[in-house]
Amino acid sequence: MKKILLQLDVDPQPCPFDAVVAVDAGADVLLRHANVSPANVTALAHGAMFTRGGADLASTAIFLGGSDVPQVEAVANQIQKTFFGPVRVSVMVDPAGANTTAAAAVIAAARHLPLTSPGEAATLKAVVLGGTGPVGQRAGRLLARKGLQVSLVSRSKERAAGCCAAITAQYPDASVHAATTDAIEQVLNDADLVIAAGAAGVELLSERQRQRATRCRVFIDLNAVPPAGITGIEATDKARPDGQAVLYGALGVGGTKMKIHRAAVESLFTANDHWLDAEELLTIGELLAASDAQPTQ
Ligand SMILES: NC(=O)c1ccc[n+]([C@@H]2O[C@H](COP(=O)([O-])OP(=O)(O)OC[C@H]3O[C@@H](n4cnc5c(N)ncnc54)[C@H](OP(=O)(O)O)[C@@H]3O)[C@@H](O)[C@H]2O)c1
Repeated sequence: MKKILLQLDVDPQPCPFDAVVAVDAGADVLLRHANVSPANVTALAHGAMFTRGGADLASTAIFLGGSDVPQVEAVANQIQKTFFGPVRVSVMVDPAGANTTAAAAVIAAARHLPLTSPGEAATLKAVVLGGTGPVGQRAGRLLARKGLQVSLVSRSKERAAGCCAAITAQYPDASVHAATTDAIEQVLNDADLVIAAGAAGVELLSERQRQRATRCRVFIDLNAVPPAGITGIEATDKARPDGQAVLYGALGVGGTKMKIHRAAVESLFTANDHWLDAEELLTIGELLAASDAQPTQ
């Protein structure tokens, strides 16, 4: 049976990047829909749910994307309401690549910091620069769920506080704090991990500020467009040692992001009830990282 992926996008054009990855990940047929909204998604979901039946439902899946994250979340909620009992298809949610990118950043950090040990993770402090964007919010959420103390940094205290509130609404025990760029040196003082998730081509951290964050063991810059988000990091850096720390650039993290994205699309077609949001995509990435770390026979 042919694997059919409905690519639903809230933007006026469905994202070509997501389409290419879908084909590379083995989708035989791609049905692309733009301007998807909570008002029109029910009919699209019905088309996926009711055409094939029983075990064949696993051969139809939905990829949900787009740059307006709240709109993507609203569409995702509506899709969930549309499914009932076993009459459902698997869904991957990745607005503007935020979930796969944030998951890849967390996996990079976990190579150097004890993120998987809850006791140790709780002692770690993470700073997410550009923490109010789609990628920064997801990185903050994933790190807070692992028990880290997370500071989301923004130019606006209100925006940062709103993003922290969204995380604690989902994870009430999360330790997330709003910080502003004015107070950046204060939060950097005792940071173990810094992720820069600011807009493309915007410098968020100078070389001097980075050098002064002496406790930090991992710096990750997700911006691939010059100038760097963290000055001194090259886009291709992948665990490049720099004093006590290691440095990652956008391309150094991007390989893992691509692996997660492809593996997630492949896994959509293994059952009809997968729901792959940021947390599940991180789990997929962690499994991939663990299998990469296995010695070859
Ligand atoms: N490697 C990959 O595979 C991959 C995939 C997707 C995205 N990315 C990259 O990841 C980064 C984050 O993506 P995104 O979509 O979440 O970013 P975004 O929404 O464009 O920007 C993130 C945050 O940056 C801050 N910002 C915007 N303009 C600024 C300025 N002039 N000065 C200081 N701060 C500014 C804003 O926060 P405040 O207004 O609250 O300060 C904004 O919420 C981008 O660099 C993107 O290119 C990489």
